[in-house]
Amino acid sequence: FMSKEMAEQPAVLERLALEAEDQIEALAEAIRASYGAYMVGCGTASYAALTGSYLFSRIASRHVNFSPGSEFKYYEHFLTPESLVIAFSQSGETADIIEAMLAARSRGSKLAGVLNAPRSTLGRMVDLRVDLNAGPEQCVLSTKAYTAKVAVLLMTAHALAGTSAEGRRLVLEAAAGIREMLAPAWIDRVREIAANLYQAEHLFVIGRGLSYPTALEAALKIKEVSYIHAEAYAAGELKHGPFALLSPDTPVIAICTPGPAYEVMLGNMKEMKARGTPIVAFGNEDDGDVSDIADVVIPLPKAHMWTQVLTSTVLLQLLAYHTANRLGREIDMPRNLAKSVTVE
Ligand code: G6P
Repeated sequence: FMSKEMAEQPAVLERLALEAEDQIEALAEAIRASYGAYMVGCGTASYAALTGSYLFSRIASRHVNFSPGSEFKYYEHFLTPESLVIAFSQSGETADIIEAMLAARSRGSKLAGVLNAPRSTLGRMVDLRVDLNAGPEQCVLSTKAYTAKVAVLLMTAHALAGTSAEGRRLVLEAAAGIREMLAPAWIDRVREIAANLYQAEHLFVIGRGLSYPTALEAALKIKEVSYIHAEAYAAGELKHGPFALLSPDTPVIAICTPGPAYEVMLGNMKEMKARGTPIVAFGNEDDGDVSDIADVVIPLPKAHMWTQVLTSTVLLQLLAYHTANRLGREIDMPRNLAKSVTVE
């Protein structure tokens, strides 16, 4: 199922770009009208929401807050009837998100949902919905629902900024890039890297700016499906502690996409390299700087930096999948995990 669901991503994104406009405009309007908007999600959905907080800031100069669903109820006391709380959930049944939304409702706040299951508990609770329309997701690991949420956020941020057509264009560009990456040549490349990574006991995934939440999502995917201990860090934070753990046996996966964080990211990678750490970079292969520093570069299709949030995520999903495959893991049903967590 994981492989099938990853492969469905281009079609899911295209459908959203072509069909979700009205719901996205309504969500953008609700954010505009609110006095304080908050996004909540658990697990993978929380990293989609965190990506959104960067996108809203960069594209629409708007602060949209973020909280992991399970923490929201401990500091929801600032909510008022002018607040908007947006739930992100594939299943619409995650207990912590339902709790967060009940708390928001009791304070009179407006409730919105970015959901894949419109008839779910959350689907029935919210005042306003954006449907991901991604079709059933059966693998415990969320893939297509994640990229669908990020695509919705990218388009909502553009709708808020008054540039909706550009938002749709970027999502279509991402769909084309992902389609390109699902071809055998690209997959063989990822498989080769997985054949080197699978023996690691620990690894780091680093990003800066928009690629920081992508790093968090990638580390979660690697952990849950391969059982390798993968930690994500904002690249600038690595020096504040985790540097002590760097060694030739601790590979670092660096998401080094173009954008304002690019130069400083190269500097961080050089510092790691000086400590003998093997580096796998996701970036532009033609870029001499990246390929000089990294031991291996997994290329991303050339695209806008915001589109690369989506393409780099899919490449990291593929890496997690092939690493787990190499280790013979139970991919669709990792140990100790459930598709939907319905208890707090
Ligand atoms: C579980 C699943 C994750 C998912 C999370 C949130 O932990 O294993 O894949 O991201 O729940 O689920 P939701 O249905 O609310 O998106």
